[in-house]
Amino acid sequence: MKVQQRSLLAAALALAGAPSVDAVLRFSCSELVTERLDPLVFPGSNPSPHLHQIVGGNMFNVTMDSKQHNIGEEATCTTCTFSEDFSNYWTAVLYFRARNGSYIRVPQRPNVDFDGARGGGMTVYYTPSYQGGKVTAFQPGFRMIVGNPGYRTAQEAAKFRQLTFTCLETMYTRDGETTSMPTKPCREGIMANVRFPTCWDGKNLDTPSHSDHVAYPSSGTFESGGPCPSSHPVKIPQLFYEVIWDTRQFNDRSLWPEDGSQPFVWSYGDYTGYGTHGDYVFGWKGDSLQRAMDANCDVYCPTLKSQSISQANQCKVNRVVNEEIDGWLASLPGGVEVVGPQPGTGSGGNNGGGNNNGGGNNNGGGGSCQVAKWAQCGGQGYTGCTTCAAGSTCRAQNQYYSQCL
Ligand SMILES: *[C@@H]1O[C@H](CO)[C@@H](O)[C@H](O)[C@H]1NC(C)=O
Ligand SMILES: *[C@@H]1O[C@H](CO)[C@@H](O)[C@H](O)[C@H]1NC(C)=O
Repeated sequence: MKVQQRSLLAAALALAGAPSVDAVLRFSCSELVTERLDPLVFPGSNPSPHLHQIVGGNMFNVTMDSKQHNIGEEATCTTCTFSEDFSNYWTAVLYFRARNGSYIRVPQRPNVDFDGARGGGMTVYYTPSYQGGKVTAFQPGFRMIVGNPGYRTAQEAAKFRQLTFTCLETMYTRDGETTSMPTKPCREGIMANVRFPTCWDGKNLDTPSHSDHVAYPSSGTFESGGPCPSSHPVKIPQLFYEVIWDTRQFNDRSLWPEDGSQPFVWSYGDYTGYGTHGDYVFGWKGDSLQRAMDANCDVYCPTLKSQSISQANQCKVNRVVNEEIDGWLASLPGGVEVVGPQPGTGSGGNNGGGNNNGGGNNNGGGGSCQVAKWAQCGGQGYTGCTTCAAGSTCRAQNQYYSQCL
């Protein structure tokens, strides 16, 4: 087992040009809850714009104010197998769109070695460094986001260096990562890879954008030991998620669009995959993460307490958003509009094919393009076009979202 894991890591790391396969903390986190909440970008908002799948500790909630709660000390259970890790990790959710326009959620499946993880969950990695030397673990109250759900082009997505997809021919496939969604059926599923920046400003636990306090190395890469920029001088571990979307029941081409485009769409309304993103709220108990980093742990980490996958599966939080997310749906949860092209056709997926301007939050029958809820001001937001109706004004809520108020 261990040899297999190492060879898997070796394959992944060889790609990244890493000199060593030691010291990669790797563990399973089962599903905690899947629902339309986002306590990082939309604290207090029930529901938030799009659906997420969340793993980790049971302090996850509509609001997670770091000034009121110390997650690592107050949480009482976690879906992660390192049982002092009460952090929360989340990503968007993948849907399959049938020829008749209905959507159904794509299940997740457990990674190699983590059979039985409820809901598939995700695999989490923390890598201190491939060159040795000390890294500074995240602190209580730390949180961050990588990626931007509004992005739909390779140029935009290039701002983030390591958000990719792997078309799994076997469960061990680790080569051929792409920054957009695979355009052909992937025999064992599609793995979404989310790697966060590895340099911190040393001061801010969070910033309004939830990403300005972290940065990539100023030259080279994390894997090659590139230095951190002077603005963000503190080396932090590389946080990395692998999420496997079990597309096996949808791999029959006769179910795919007649034009040959790929049928999978993210819960934030994206066929391209360029808007992929991951969220992190730190919640390790005490100094456990720092100890694990200092000990150069991998899948075995005697300095940490651990639990079995079946124990991890027992931790849950109840859903608080009352809506249907499974079964055949007429629209994505929240009425999220699909924006941007559909890979495989070279043509736009919106404006022509009736993905926009029908139901959902936009254009509830009115003449001009309007947005009732989440989008950018002007132009195409990620939930559609964003001209406000007479009598309301588009107001930016943050860098990602605006509302007509
Ligand atoms: C979430 O927050 C609500 C309101 O503050 C609280 O009643 C509830 O117990 C919290 N849920 C969890 C799982 O902590
Ligand atoms: C749409 O197609 C799917 C897959 O063939 C089918 O199961 C579902 O019932 C259809 N929905 C409608 C509303 O026709």
